[in-house]
Amino acid sequence: MAPGSPVSLRLPGQVVTGKSRDDMIESLAAAMASAIRQAVLERGVAHIALSGGSTPKPLFLQLCTDPLFGFLPWQQTHAWLVDERQVPLDHDKSNYRMIHELLLAHLPMPEEHRHPVPVDRHEPAEAYEAEFRRTLGVAEGVPALDFVLLGMGDDAHTASLFPLSPALGVDDRCFVENGGPTVVPPDRVTMTYPLINHAREVAVLVTGTAKHPTLREVAEAYESGEPSFHQLPVTGVRPHAGSLTWFLDPEAAMGA
Ligand code: 6PG
Repeated sequence: MAPGSPVSLRLPGQVVTGKSRDDMIESLAAAMASAIRQAVLERGVAHIALSGGSTPKPLFLQLCTDPLFGFLPWQQTHAWLVDERQVPLDHDKSNYRMIHELLLAHLPMPEEHRHPVPVDRHEPAEAYEAEFRRTLGVAEGVPALDFVLLGMGDDAHTASLFPLSPALGVDDRCFVENGGPTVVPPDRVTMTYPLINHAREVAVLVTGTAKHPTLREVAEAYESGEPSFHQLPVTGVRPHAGSLTWFLDPEAAMGA
């Protein structure tokens, strides 16, 4: 296929690209805003979960600089982390540090609604899950987040669910620690598939030419039948009742 020619990546759910990265980011910000408004309207509170890495940075900038998003009910919104590196919160590898600096610090969101992973605790994943369940008032079963923002690595990992890593098989927890030879150091705390797949809306944000080969591999795996989430963890994202939308810039969607 000639570089740059439109490639219709067949992915489950909906694919949103737009004419440019900025165009697509605006669509993603609007989708997130709509999910927050809907949740507060229906339940009086919104629970969103955000990923780290570099890809979401333009989205966070859009959400806290565009006046349109200033009027969202941030006072009734809780921000959780999809995953976290087990480093101090002021470390330059901390996802919370980036998310707080680029987004949360600029929003009228109560301090107690911003939920960093307690990486300094003895068992951070268990402590985070206890805080999560207490806040949502769900002691048993899997709580439903309103909006989960995921990224995807070149190895098709999402959250900190890395290929062939122990966390892929965890189905009785919402959060778990993850480590091992396929997990990019440092060790992580990550959401598990059950929590991701119980969300009302899941958005997978992928940008840049470098991610196109992995997206094609993921699309081909879906087309071949039952893709292996052990090899391609993002294919384990299959919301049971919620929506799945891939937000791709033209470079990621079409390649060079
Ligand atoms: C992390 C992220 C991770 C991220 C992907 C993509 O802790 O690294 O949460 O899951 O979404 O690795 O990272 P980039 O956006 O930097 O490509």
